[in-house]
Parts: sequence; structure tokens; C-alpha cells
Amino acid sequence: MKILVTGGLGYIGSHTCVELAKNGHTVVIVDNLSNSKLETLDRLTEITGARMAFYRVDVTDYRATAEIFAAHTIEGVMHFAGLKAVGESVEQPLAYYYNNVLGTITIAKLCLEYGVNKFVFSSSATVYGDQASPLYEDMALGQTTNPYGETKAMSERILTDVTKANPRFAVSLLRYFNPVGAHESGLIGEDPNGIPNNLMPYVTRVAKGLLPCLRVFGNDYDTPDGTGVRDYIHVVDLALGHVAAFENLQPGVSIFNLGTGKGTSVLELVHAFTAENGVAVPYEIAPRRVGDVATCFADASRAARDLGWRAKRGIREMVRDAWRFESATKGTKGTFPFVR
Ligand code: NAD
Ligand code: UD1
Repeated sequence: MKILVTGGLGYIGSHTCVELAKNGHTVVIVDNLSNSKLETLDRLTEITGARMAFYRVDVTDYRATAEIFAAHTIEGVMHFAGLKAVGESVEQPLAYYYNNVLGTITIAKLCLEYGVNKFVFSSSATVYGDQASPLYEDMALGQTTNPYGETKAMSERILTDVTKANPRFAVSLLRYFNPVGAHESGLIGEDPNGIPNNLMPYVTRVAKGLLPCLRVFGNDYDTPDGTGVRDYIHVVDLALGHVAAFENLQPGVSIFNLGTGKGTSVLELVHAFTAENGVAVPYEIAPRRVGDVATCFADASRAARDLGWRAKRGIREMVRDAWRFESATKGTKGTFPFVR
């Protein structure tokens, strides 16, 4: 099928483009390059052997995006395009609501106009708020604590209402847990600008000597070693989850957790990184980060039952592939100032 992938040059989108191509789909990418680089398109060609159609267009631009729908017989959409930095969303709420909510509305509107009934949406475990893990898809949406999370909850509600009014519209809301790792080729991976907010890219940059020391945000949580527990999922498993969700789309809304169902603490992840890669990661214990929960992991049984998908890669593969990508990446990342 011909699938429009919005945000297809970003971290998760690019890995999903690879798996879609491997499964015989034709990919058309739209990305405004606000958080990605054009060279990723060359990397996708290197990995898949296929040159994917690419449009540098902002998906909040209805007219420009409509031209893509007019030029291609799109049969389904995977909507990754969005801003994702939690702290930034608190500082710039309008930018987040505008980009993430209007982007979803624009793509959904064009789907209806062009008769595209298959829609896969990038949601997040953040929509559960601070409910106790394991988190089940049937739980009510929780209290989101920042504008980023709110854009995901709003987009879920909007897409749900659109399917109620358009019974042939098939939407899969995929709630990601903590995507980490990289493609095993080392050619694509997570490459955030500036100082990373998330744990794994921070760890790899400390390991590489680009940052002096990891700050472990709290060791007094009610968890086995006191540090925060999350459900890390290898980005290639996540990408395969998208292929499975797309191929099993049913009219109406379906919701799937994409996680492993297993929790790993910050210190477990750091120790696994050092054991697997033989590289030290200096760390210090710092105060808790505002907004963090102690524990967050999925009940992953629905995706296994309904999609026949489950994550296969463990923490060792995650830390190995994350490090391979970081080791292979050259250039600009050492140039930002250290903040201690
Ligand atoms: P990313 O920033 O690497 O990729 C997003 C891509 O979308 C980027 O290439 C960016 O340039 C593009 N983009 C942003 N706004 C756009 C717009 N208006 N028009 C066109 N392109 C636009 O992020 P990612 O980690 O790959 O995340 C993909 C999606 O998954 C996002 O919607 C994100 O909120 C969601 N998500 C990510 C995580 C995570 O931990 N990475 C967790 C849960 C949900
Ligand atoms: C964060 C966001 C979440 C978003 C997700 C993916 C917050 C509160 N939540 O989730 O909404 O969907 O990223 O983008 O920002 N940690 C450290 N030191 C660091 C970085 C992280 O100890 O330098 C710890 C955190 O306290 C946490 C764990 O590592 O226990 C994972 O953190 P992170 O990778 O930022 O993901 P989340 O907080 O789960």
C-alpha cells in the first residue's frame, strides 16, 4: 500500500519507514525538518535500497499538504509529525497546541477529503497521567501535567470523534512507552539537538565524553533501587508495532500500548549499558525531576492478542544499538556548552 508518513525523517518515523518498505509498502514522507535532517533520507535509501518520495512541507499548512494527497493515491497515513519536548511545551504552549493539534486536524481532514480511511497515530503513555502501573488501554485518560501531554490527549479525542462521525474511518492510537535504541545498521537513530532531556541519549553522550556526568533524578522513589522505573522499548520493535497496527486496522478506534510490559530502573539501564558496551557512564544522584512518576510500564497483552505483535528486543540490544549509533555519529554534537 502507499502510505503517507508524516514526520518520517524523525526518530521513530524513520525506523518505521524502513519496516514499512521491508514489508512491501510504498512510503511517501512529509516532514518540515524542524527536528530532523535531510541526510536521513539518504540513510533510508542506503538501508532499504529504495528512494522514498519526500516533501518538505509543514502539515499544519493545509494547501501544501493537500498537494501531496492530490499527487499520490495515498491509501493510509501514519502521523508522527509533532513537537515532543515536555519542558519546551510548558514554556511555549501555543507552539505545541498549534503544531500538534492543528497538524492532526489537517491530516485527518485531508484523509476524509481524499477517501483515506486508514490512520495510525503516535500517542504516548503520558496520556495515562499518574495512574498505577501496569497501564491498561481501558483506563480513563489521566490528568496530563503539561501541554505536550495535553496535545496527545486532545488528538486522541479528536480522532475518536472523527471515527464516530465517519464509520469507515479506521484509527489506531498507539501509546508508546519509552522508545530507545537505533537501527542495527547504525545509520539512523535518535539525534536530539542540544542537551538531551531523555535518559538514553543523555547516557550515550556521557559515555562518549560529550557531557561530563549523568544526573540520576532521585534515588528515593518507592522502587527496588530507588530510581525511576520505565518501560523501555527498542525503536525497531516499536516500528514493527506500527506495521502490525496498520495491517490490522479495523473501522473505529483501537488503542494499543506499545511497550514491553517490563520495567527497568535508571541504574539498571546505566549498569546494562556499561556491561554491554564496556564504557563507563559517570553519574551522580540529583534531586527528583518535577513531573516524574516513580514507575511507568505497560500491560502489553492487547497488542499481542489483537495484532500478534510483541517486543522481542531486550535492554542489551537497546543499549548496544543506542551506543553503536552514537559512536558512529560525527560532527556537531560536541559543540554545545556544558551545563553543570
Ligand atoms: P522526532 O522529533 O524525532 O520526529 C518528529 C518529526 O516530525 C521530525 O522529523 C520533525 O521535523 C517533524 N515535524 C514536527 N512538526 C512537523 C510539522 N508541523 N510538519 C511536518 N513535520 C513536522 O520525534 P519522535 O521521537 O520520532 O516522535 C514521533 C512522534 O511520536 C511524535 O508525535 C511524538 O510526540 C510521539 N512520541 C514520541 C515519544 C518518544 O519518546 N520519542 C514518546 C511518545 C510519543
Ligand atoms: C519523558 C516525558 C514524557 C515523554 C517521554 C518521551 C517528562 C516528565 N516525561 O518521559 O512525557 O513522553 O519523555 O519523550 O518529561 N532520568 C534521569 N536523568 C536524566 C534523564 C532522565 O535520571 O538526565 C530519569 C527520569 O527521571 C526517568 C527516566 O530517567 O526516571 C526516564 O526519563 P526520560 O527518558 O526523560 O523519559 P520519561 O520521564 O519517562
